Amino acid sequence: MSNPSTWRPETVAVRGGWGSDPATHAISVPIYQTVGFQFDDTGHAARLFNLEEPGNIYTRIMNPTTDILEQRMAQLEGGVAAVAFSSGMAAITAAILNVARAGDEVVAATSLYGGTWTLFTSTLRDFGITVRFLADDDIAQADAQFNEKTRAVFVESIGNPRLDITDIKAWAEAAHAHGVPLIVDNTFASPYLERPIEHGADIVVHALTKWVGGHGNSMGGIVVDSGHFDYGSQKFPQYSVPDPSYHGLIFANLAETAYITRLRVKVLRDTGAALSPTNAYHILQGLETLPLRMERECQTANDLAKRLVEHPQVSWVNYPGLSSHPSYQKAAQYLRPGFFGSMLNFGVKGGYDQALRVMNRLSLWINVANVGDVRSMTIHPASTTHQQLNPEEQVLAGVPGDLIRLSVGLEHPDDLWEDLEQALSH
Ligand SMILES: Cc1ncc(COP(=O)(O)O)c(C=O)c1O
Repeated sequence: MSNPSTWRPETVAVRGGWGSDPATHAISVPIYQTVGFQFDDTGHAARLFNLEEPGNIYTRIMNPTTDILEQRMAQLEGGVAAVAFSSGMAAITAAILNVARAGDEVVAATSLYGGTWTLFTSTLRDFGITVRFLADDDIAQADAQFNEKTRAVFVESIGNPRLDITDIKAWAEAAHAHGVPLIVDNTFASPYLERPIEHGADIVVHALTKWVGGHGNSMGGIVVDSGHFDYGSQKFPQYSVPDPSYHGLIFANLAETAYITRLRVKVLRDTGAALSPTNAYHILQGLETLPLRMERECQTANDLAKRLVEHPQVSWVNYPGLSSHPSYQKAAQYLRPGFFGSMLNFGVKGGYDQALRVMNRLSLWINVANVGDVRSMTIHPASTTHQQLNPEEQVLAGVPGDLIRLSVGLEHPDDLWEDLEQALSH
């Protein structure tokens, strides 16, 4: 008997959580496009609602198609369980709201996706949750940002846009020393390149919209829990005090499934950002080829980075696979050997205006605000995603005016290079 717990990621990506449909023997995961599920009788219904028995109630809270995606992602990340959401932002928001309430605080790295930055500095602040950022992401200075109100720490495994590789072990130690969990956004690495739980992370989130789905057709997000963190302390009364919305259930008593159960039956139930079953199906289809896509995309990105370094019109290249990159050593510690991700940034000689001219001469590279697609994509952040910042702030955010961002897809590397070459050399 093949033992699923010993499967390698390539096997989990196509087989995890699913054999065949018990009713029809279909081997492709069916799309259970339904809102409700019929109860056997009123007793069965009452038991499901009271969490006495597992089972499907309503697609806002759980769905059999989404369940396979959740099981597969939990297995890939080495977690106990997962809950899927309608987008990456919904997953990040829910992951935080499951531990932090009004008056609480979160400590975060600064090298973050712009949407997460705005959530932290604007919307969470409106909710009464303060996020304290660690200047220069210098973990040695972390103690100054923690206090008795801190409830979580948040970082990205590969920061965006600096493409710096986070020292998860050091961040986990700092979080645990202050009695709070570490949440890691692992979108840019994907579970094929990095498994943050193995380095001490407690919770992993993903924008499934990007590399996991991989085809630019479906929004989705997920939260995977390690089951390692103990929520029984006084810091987390929402876990240790009886919950009136579940007849006095004490979530901490659920031990390793406390966080993920509360995430589903409280946060997802009440905020409603559920993944649609059809999107779960599309994302599952993408996930099946994640290892193959990552291998090819990372190889092409590495190849293009090396060619760009040599180009006379290029002033600098930011790619963790270059030995000159500040995170090159950390990549060896945290990423699958020989893999450095499929994102790279470079600067065009001549600055902002010249970068725009190069962008407008590209034809194979698609100018779009997305990453992690099978199609290669590019954007000029200073005139789009970061246009509200002044030039000094843009440099601080790691997006100077000469920067062109590339998300490398599956096209032939020579075709991608020829398009870049003609645009740069025009
Ligand atoms: C690292 C990272 N996290 C989260 C998100 C948000 O994901 P979504 O667009 O699915 O809400 C993104 C989006 O680009 C991202 O790059």
